[in-house]
Amino acid sequence: PASQPWSQRFETALHPAIEVFNASIGFDIALIEYDLTGSQAHARMLAHQAIISVEEAEQIVQGLERIRQEYRSGEFQPGIEAEDVHFAVERRLTELIGAAGKKLHTARSRNDQVGTDIRLYLRDQIQQIQVKLRQFQQVLVTLADQHVETMIPGYTHLQRAQPLSLAHHLLAYFEMTQRDWQRLEDVQKRVNISPLGSGALAGTPFPIDRQFSANLLGFTGVYANSLDGVSDRDFAIEFLCAASLIMVHLSRMAEEIIFWASEEFKFVILTDACATGSSIMPQKKNPDVPELVRGKTGRVFGHLQAMLVIMKGLPLAYNKDLQEDKEALFDGVNTVKSCLEAMTILLQEGLVFQTDRLNGAVAEDFSNATDVADYLAAKGVPFREAYNIVGLVVKTCLSQNKLLKDLSLVEWQALHPQFEADIYDAIAPQQVVAARNSFGGTGFAQVKSAIATAQALLAAS
Ligand code: ARG
Repeated sequence: PASQPWSQRFETALHPAIEVFNASIGFDIALIEYDLTGSQAHARMLAHQAIISVEEAEQIVQGLERIRQEYRSGEFQPGIEAEDVHFAVERRLTELIGAAGKKLHTARSRNDQVGTDIRLYLRDQIQQIQVKLRQFQQVLVTLADQHVETMIPGYTHLQRAQPLSLAHHLLAYFEMTQRDWQRLEDVQKRVNISPLGSGALAGTPFPIDRQFSANLLGFTGVYANSLDGVSDRDFAIEFLCAASLIMVHLSRMAEEIIFWASEEFKFVILTDACATGSSIMPQKKNPDVPELVRGKTGRVFGHLQAMLVIMKGLPLAYNKDLQEDKEALFDGVNTVKSCLEAMTILLQEGLVFQTDRLNGAVAEDFSNATDVADYLAAKGVPFREAYNIVGLVVKTCLSQNKLLKDLSLVEWQALHPQFEADIYDAIAPQQVVAARNSFGGTGFAQVKSAIATAQALLAAS
């Protein structure tokens, strides 16, 4: 067992198993660059406030920079004896620069230090996720642009409902991920507040300047209450909530792609770049990528739940329970990033829409039935009455194994005298889609304008 900065007060060493149980270095090493940057700002603030000398601060800043290089080159690999990344850095700093290193922790606690580190980490990661969301959106819009005129059956209850432009279907996901992007932008406002200077829980007697270090670190403000500063993890929960919604959206798309790729639908063919085979069934081509995305969604929901439960009974202020925030947050971040990346690749080069099959599908069903009712309603027949007439028409067709387009004009007119020859145009799939030109509808003109809006948004960001 190692001797820790706190060992003086203790008689005997930690039980070796408890040392392992207690340590966070195995995962919080991921925070090291943020820890170094945070400590450099703290040292500069201490010198600015004449709490340490300018020379001491300079030595500290340089020493921390050297540790950054050592870490990047793989030279600095602290083991379990360090307990956590904060002690590991402080110990190495003192080895490197001696006495001045021991002054770094003046007017600071690991509690405000770790809070600073995870906020700097998350701020960075949120920006990276936003970039990945934009890349995903870009691929969606490019695909949509290629498939304005491609039809796809639209479903409710997974029953054929009304035909859609495939672009319209794809752009629904653009809208979802646009809200995701905005949600992250909003979460970021609360991530980017500095707890540094809260001390262990109560503040510090030293004449620190919290705004000074916050400015150096690019925070937009400081926590107004030191107890809240060291014990707040709302921002992590908010992030995991936003991350969970991203996963909901990716998972819904994943689910659709999985059944689109099935023999029963055959709306897409998976390319070899994103599919795998079976160990026993030679004919198989499996949609592993969307299945993994759908499966990994559970992780992120789990981390959100874990964070909520960690916080719910926690008395103020810091408690070691808070060390559990890291793995939840890190895995949530990494999962969202890898899933966004995989889905972007899947859309870009992992699947080919089968346009003949898609266009053919909507020509062979009753998804134009609403349009027959609309046809009569436009001629003054009350919609509910028109609806009932079309119900009969569908029943007749089903019993004769016919589609609506197979009825002769005589048959149409026997059903209602107001049917005329233009009924055939009105129920052709292209016309059925084109007609839905209400704002936000699937009409081609609407879809083209939605694509233009999306392209403008992406070009501006
Ligand atoms: N490793 C700890 C964590 O991740 C750092 C803070 C420790 N503070 C304390 N008072 N024990 O939360």
